[in-house]
This record gives sequence, C-alpha cells and structure tokens, in this order.
Amino acid sequence: MTIQENQIKQNIARIWDVSSETYDSQQGHGIQSEMEREAWKSVFKSLLPPGRLKVLDVGCGTCEIGLLFAEMGHHVTGLDLSEKMLAKAREKASKKGFDSVFEKGDAENPPFEEGTFDAVVNRHLLWTLPHPDTAVTNWKKVLKKGGVLIVVDGVWNDGTLETKARRFVSDFCTLLAERKNPRKGHYSREINDELPNRHGVPPEKTLEYFKNAGLKNVKDLDLKDVREIQKKKMPFRKRIAYNYEYHLICGRKIN
Ligand SMILES: C[S@@+](CC[C@H](N)C(=O)[O-])C[C@H]1O[C@@H](n2cnc3c(N)ncnc32)[C@H](O)[C@@H]1O
Repeated sequence: MTIQENQIKQNIARIWDVSSETYDSQQGHGIQSEMEREAWKSVFKSLLPPGRLKVLDVGCGTCEIGLLFAEMGHHVTGLDLSEKMLAKAREKASKKGFDSVFEKGDAENPPFEEGTFDAVVNRHLLWTLPHPDTAVTNWKKVLKKGGVLIVVDGVWNDGTLETKARRFVSDFCTLLAERKNPRKGHYSREINDELPNRHGVPPEKTLEYFKNAGLKNVKDLDLKDVREIQKKKMPFRKRIAYNYEYHLICGRKIN
C-alpha cells in the first residue's frame, strides 16, 4: 500500500470513528425493529450451510450484521479500520454474551490464513474501498473450500434529477429538524477521488468482482423487503431520500 493510500484509509477510519457514536441509532444502519432483525436473519439463513460456522464480517462497523450470525449460533470475527466502531462492536457482543472477536485491519487485505472461514459477509463496505476487485479476491482466499461470500451493497446516488431533488428536500428538512449539517460525515473530494464506487456499487459491478475472483453459484437477491421494513421506521426527512437500489450477492468458493 502506498503512503497516500494508507493516508486515505486513515482518513476514512477517522470519519467512521466520529460516526460510531450515533451509527446504530440511524435507520438503515442500526436494526430498528424485530421485524427487520428477522427479515435479515431469514435471508442469511437461506444462504448458509448447516452447523456452527466461522464467519468473518469485514468492515463490520458496530457489527449489526455480524452479530446476527452470532445470534444464529455462529462464531463471528469482526474486522474494521475504525477503533471506535470496534469498541462499540465489542461492547455489544459482550453484553449479549457472544464469544465474537474483533480486530483492527484492512478489509482489502484481511490478516487471516487462507481457508479460515466458512462465510465472509459484509454490508455497505464495497462502495468505500479503493480496490474492490482486490478485496473480493482476498475475501475468497480466506474462505474455506465450499465457503460462501455474501455482499450487501447498493447504489446510494444514481445521479438522476429525481434523486438530486429528493436529497435536497431531505437535507433541508434535516437542517430544520435537527439543526445540524446534513452533509456532516460525508467524504471529502480527496477521498471520493480514490473510490471507484463512491456513489454506491451497482449489482452488475459486484457480479463482475465475483466473476473475476472465480466465485461460483452466484446469486443476486433483491433486498426490497428489508428496505421496505427499514423505511417504515424512518422519519419523512430520511424516507424521501431513501430510493436506493439495494442488493445482496452471494457466491461459493469451489476451488
Ligand atoms: C457504512 S459502514 C458499514 C458498517 C457495517 N458493515 C454495517 O453494515 O453496519 C462502513 C464501515 O467500513 C469500515 N471500513 C472502511 N474502509 C475499510 C477498510 N479498508 N478496512 C476495514 N474497514 C473499513 C468503516 O470503518 C466502517 O465501519
């Protein structure tokens, strides 16, 4: 990694350090209802083999998603660059009595032996990586043969006039209702310039990364149901801008 790339990743981690305080209270980030929790679990259950699995949540943040796997009885390892996100994840896991472990490290190059995990999962991470192709290849490496890679991502900003208008109204309402800068926590141009999917990852892109990495039995699931459940808990000012495409793509390591 070059000094400049390292610097960009440190800057990204700093932004998520700040966001860690309120992250779980944000609809679409923290799980806000039992209905949403069950919807996520039922999607994941349908993709996993039986037994107690070793699961890696890369870019785990506060580990909202990884801890669902712990609730389903699996052993979870969380990896993230943000110390403060990891601290929240550790606190949550320990409150629930899970034996999950958390490490600081780069998701593009997870510091684990080849063939360690039965499942690698991540949500809302691929878009914020400078080298998503390398990341997917390396996630496949740390999977055991027969292991499954699950990626959840979406297109946050499709650049259309409608999306721009929705965001404008949402930002304005947030400014009025919360008296805070709605763009706080957004990436700087310097960071965005390094991210090929800064507006989100279209499913075709995720599928391309899976294909390049040699993952097989690839499935593309629409997460419309989860999104509709999430929307129900959103105030109008958030809901109006929540017109994202949202997908889950999974594939298996055969060789
Ligand atoms: C949008 S949050 C998603 C958190 C979590 N996966 C979730 O679904 O709630 C993005 C997370 O990715 C982490 N992250 C960004 N770049 C990373 C990298 N190169 N390596 C590890 N973590 C990274 C951030 O620190 C942040 O916690």
